[in-house]
Amino acid sequence: MIRHCLSLKDLTKQEILELLDLSQQIKNKIKSKQDYKPLSGVILGMIFEKPSTRTRLSFEAGMKRLGGDAIFLSPRDIQLGRGETIEDTARVISRYVDIVMIRTFEHSRIERFAQYSTVPVINALTDLLHPCQVLADLLTIKEKLGRIEDIKVAFFGDGNNMANSWIYAAAVLGFELRVATPVDFAPNGVVVKEALELATKSGARIILTNNPEEAAKDADVLYTDVWASMGQEDQKEKKHALMRPYQVNRELVKYANKDYIFMHCLPAHRGEEVEAEVIDDEKHSVIFDEAENRTYAQLATIMNLIGRV
Ligand code: CP
Ligand code: NVA
Repeated sequence: MIRHCLSLKDLTKQEILELLDLSQQIKNKIKSKQDYKPLSGVILGMIFEKPSTRTRLSFEAGMKRLGGDAIFLSPRDIQLGRGETIEDTARVISRYVDIVMIRTFEHSRIERFAQYSTVPVINALTDLLHPCQVLADLLTIKEKLGRIEDIKVAFFGDGNNMANSWIYAAAVLGFELRVATPVDFAPNGVVVKEALELATKSGARIILTNNPEEAAKDADVLYTDVWASMGQEDQKEKKHALMRPYQVNRELVKYANKDYIFMHCLPAHRGEEVEAEVIDDEKHSVIFDEAENRTYAQLATIMNLIGRV
């Protein structure tokens, strides 16, 4: 049975904690410039159907740092963009590389790919989920707050792939998550239902609200993301009008724990989902640590999936 990493809901709390420990070890080794090449001979295929700065660089540079290699594939470069089926693409690419990451649109595309792939598949963002980002964010929270137990995380804006991923993370790990969105842009209903079931075991509190101040109250982590995700450019105007009350700004952060950290998966839009004074406040904002931690969390995931730990 090949293991994939498509959603955090497929991991146990113990598995996530172990991935975070391994991420930290990899980080220490890379930072101290140790000769550490556990991915020697391993090749990662990287399929991007949407643009990327962080995901591409963190996967590609990370693979090379640990002795492996990576091949970047955009739909313009491969026959997938000219109508070759996902099923055939998965079976063919699996014959050349050891592991694949995919950034795509509908979540069902990555599920179909994984079903036919004979090598592990990692979700590098779909319309539904972005698990790699949340793993890196959890590593960042652990570093900054010293714990991921008993944290209160508040997410503001669009109930998008980041919000959905945070909902699964809270459900598995058992922390408190508040998600504040406009009525018409709540997180995915299936994700919420599954998460609430998981929460009965983990003890997570998952609160969906339309009130940003309520969500921010005493929060340890304030998180936001773009209001119109990749592929939703046509909805930008409508969404922006509704999202305005959910901007993370100097007024909103007053409700948070005084030692709150501000997080954003990036790319950020100052003056839209976050005020410049908040995202650029180095006392609280940890956005570049999050971006850096993508490398270590993803390398840990790769090592785990291909059994190089
Ligand atoms: N956060 C994130 O996934 O960034 P990119 O879109 O630049 O990869
Ligand atoms: N929600 C955003 C995340 C970008 C990293 C998007 O899907 O465009």
